[in-house]
Amino acid sequence: MADILVYGSYGYTGRLIVEEATDRGLDVVVGGRDRNAVENQAIRQGCEERVFALDEPRLLDLALEEVEAVVHCAGPFAETAEPVVEGCLRTGTHYLDITGEIEVFERLAAADEQAEEAGITVLPGVGFDVVPTDCLAAHLAERLPDADRLALGFEASGGVSPGTAKTALRGLGEGGAVRRNGCIESVPIGSETRRIDFGRGERTAMAIPWGDVSTAYHTTGIGNVAVYTAVPSWAPRAARAAGLFGPLAGSGAVQSLLERVVEARVDGPDERERREGESYVWGEVETADGKRAVSRLVAPETYRLTKLTAVAIAERVAAGEAPAGFRTPAGAFGPDLILDVEGVERTDEPVIEAGDTTGGPD
Ligand SMILES: NC(=O)c1ccc[n+]([C@@H]2O[C@H](COP(=O)([O-])OP(=O)(O)OC[C@H]3O[C@@H](n4cnc5c(N)ncnc54)[C@H](OP(=O)(O)O)[C@@H]3O)[C@@H](O)[C@H]2O)c1
Repeated sequence: MADILVYGSYGYTGRLIVEEATDRGLDVVVGGRDRNAVENQAIRQGCEERVFALDEPRLLDLALEEVEAVVHCAGPFAETAEPVVEGCLRTGTHYLDITGEIEVFERLAAADEQAEEAGITVLPGVGFDVVPTDCLAAHLAERLPDADRLALGFEASGGVSPGTAKTALRGLGEGGAVRRNGCIESVPIGSETRRIDFGRGERTAMAIPWGDVSTAYHTTGIGNVAVYTAVPSWAPRAARAAGLFGPLAGSGAVQSLLERVVEARVDGPDERERREGESYVWGEVETADGKRAVSRLVAPETYRLTKLTAVAIAERVAAGEAPAGFRTPAGAFGPDLILDVEGVERTDEPVIEAGDTTGGPD
């Protein structure tokens, strides 16, 4: 039996994951719906290949039966996760993906019991979204176990890949999201802003509907979660204005126009950008009585980090090291999982006691 099937293996991120996994000596099967692309990749990488579309359950099951785990890379996952997870439940194959979509995390969390009964691990979000932030959330929850508020944020250099751009476009009509008192709530995009020091001085940051709005709650039990990204100071106002056009942006005609633009214009970061880029992750927890802790990570560029975390997790899940059921990355392997990735450093600010206003919230 091979270690992993990478489905969507010839996409931008799938390719990086296949290369990293074969470099690390994993026995990889490449898979996707485009016969030429899959076969050429299999020859290049010296791997087995399986060609099937996601509406071919018999071929899907045959492919899944031959591997310990699938690393699903064919997003947007709101459209593609379900058939693959169902195949994994039927065949007893562990499921991993690189989603960052809140609705997908929530749907998979709801399949926890089924996954446990089938004896499989369902572990979505093994890329930049959400491994570093999830690990930082778990670390902060250990530093302040009574915390009831969690804020996470990131600042990343470099561009995005075609699939990330398409997945983000798909979410355009849906606005922002935060978690309040345990429930996920929609908020207008650009409405929640703050100043954050990601480690290189304060920046304007805006809340975005990032995967941790779902996962951080499952990992830490903290019921109030917001996730921010660094943006230019004019961006929140522009985002609020654009939000007024949300329903239009989400319409079929506008979506297919924008997708064509992405296909023509978006390549993703090149090798040098991936090698030289960095990402900065910040997190803050607060208790009801005002005690506060801040920690940060410096990490490789987001797509480089994605291939490193995805393969490190796939290796461990394929070896049967993760418990069955729905798991978040830090839920399965603990907050220090991210420290095993080359180039990642974590720093902690001292805990600020309630009433101490020096260095208080931005
Ligand atoms: N969590 C993270 O940090 C992270 C990091 C990177 C990427 N991502 C996500 O991963 C996804 C892929 O990104 P990418 O830039 O690698 O995309 P990409 O270059 O566009 O590749 C997407 C791959 O998925 C396949 N695919 C898409 N829809 C499919 C379907 N319905 N059935 C079968 N195959 C399908 C494509 O095959 P065809 O060419 O045949 O359509 C292609 O192989 C996106 O959703 C992105 O947001 C997440």
